[in-house]
Amino acid sequence: MQKKISPAAAITGSIALPGDKSISHRYAMIAAIAEGETRISNYSTGADCHSTLGCVRALGIEVEGAGTELVIRGRGLDGLRAPAADLDAGNSGSTIRMLSGILAAQPFLSRIFGDESLSRRPMQRIMKPLAEMGAKIAARDGKFPPLTIEGAPLHAIEYALPVPSAQVKTCVLFAGLFADGETVVVEPVRSRDHTEIALREFGADLAVERQRITLAGRPKLIGRPLIVPSDLSSAAFFLVAALLVPGSRLSIRNVGLNPTRSALLDFLAGMGAKIRIPELESINGELSGEIQVEHSHLRGGTISGALTAALIDEIPVLAVLGAATEEGITVRDAAELRIKETDRIQTVAGNLRRMGVQAEELPDGLVVPGRQKFHAAELDSYGDHRIAMAFAVAALRAEGDSVIREAEAASVSFPEFWETLGGISG
Ligand code: S3P
Repeated sequence: MQKKISPAAAITGSIALPGDKSISHRYAMIAAIAEGETRISNYSTGADCHSTLGCVRALGIEVEGAGTELVIRGRGLDGLRAPAADLDAGNSGSTIRMLSGILAAQPFLSRIFGDESLSRRPMQRIMKPLAEMGAKIAARDGKFPPLTIEGAPLHAIEYALPVPSAQVKTCVLFAGLFADGETVVVEPVRSRDHTEIALREFGADLAVERQRITLAGRPKLIGRPLIVPSDLSSAAFFLVAALLVPGSRLSIRNVGLNPTRSALLDFLAGMGAKIRIPELESINGELSGEIQVEHSHLRGGTISGALTAALIDEIPVLAVLGAATEEGITVRDAAELRIKETDRIQTVAGNLRRMGVQAEELPDGLVVPGRQKFHAAELDSYGDHRIAMAFAVAALRAEGDSVIREAEAASVSFPEFWETLGGISG
């Protein structure tokens, strides 16, 4: 599917977005191994989170509802059933990496696979700790999906993550739920903590001391009602659209503002963005609130070190924004971007150049000089949802009509993206 994007006069209105992808995955997986019913409201509409639901169903868990309102009937830590067929994680790194932590503890063999992009993403990062805990996992060429997981009674370990990754942290903590004793995960920098918050909501015993998380094994997890806030990483596209296009004024309701995710807002505000959050509330341990944003002149900035890890999903759209700032945006310490759904350093730089925007690729990042103009162009998503959406935003500021090829990729996290964009950009 191709999408034609015309330049926008202004981005205005008040919008609501789908539920947070990271939180939705975690709620569905934990609900499956909790006892009793979990009602989830505002579950993500993204294909990734539906891959998780498909896997949970294939493991013998009843999931009622197909939209954003779900009831998951958990069967407890020992209630999953051997799947009749291979588990399909689709495009979802979170599904395969996090669910593997649960599969590793099951008294049955499972095989989990994904699409072409997922089949190129590295899995040693979860295979190593799970093997240390006692599971046997085989992968294509020793590192890529499909994974064949021979579950076993697991033992607790202390594991220092070599790279910051909330998916790997979650995988080890999920495995630790089934192990006797205390599982400890030590992070190099603090990554998103939705797993820790969600596990506590379900009743797990978990202690967090800076970057060290200690989880007691074999907790009694109890199903409960949960509400998913809207996804800040999806909101990022509209925030940047409003910042880029003169005359814009936008409000985004009920967005997840967990402090381990909201570095985006601090970074934008630090460059001079006019962003307001009138009030915050806490639901199920997660902060959320309305974000108000208006077009702003931005200085530009550098994303490196721990900030890179905190902004990892937002870097494509921030690189786009960089071209319209005074001093540009430099991204460093972001080699992880090369192993996302696409090599996002290459796909971002390639599309920027097609728009006549200068961008220098570094082994671990990008330099996008400021004060540049976007020219209309034919752009590719390369099948990557965040690339499709980042360049739809860039196209709003171009001087003519642009085209995004394989625009359907946006559905991986945000099926309503094109409709929502149309509604606020005239
Ligand atoms: C996620 C963690 C990040 C992020 C991904 C979602 C999560 O991946 O890029 O979109 O929900 O835990 P890594 O764990 O690979 O950093």
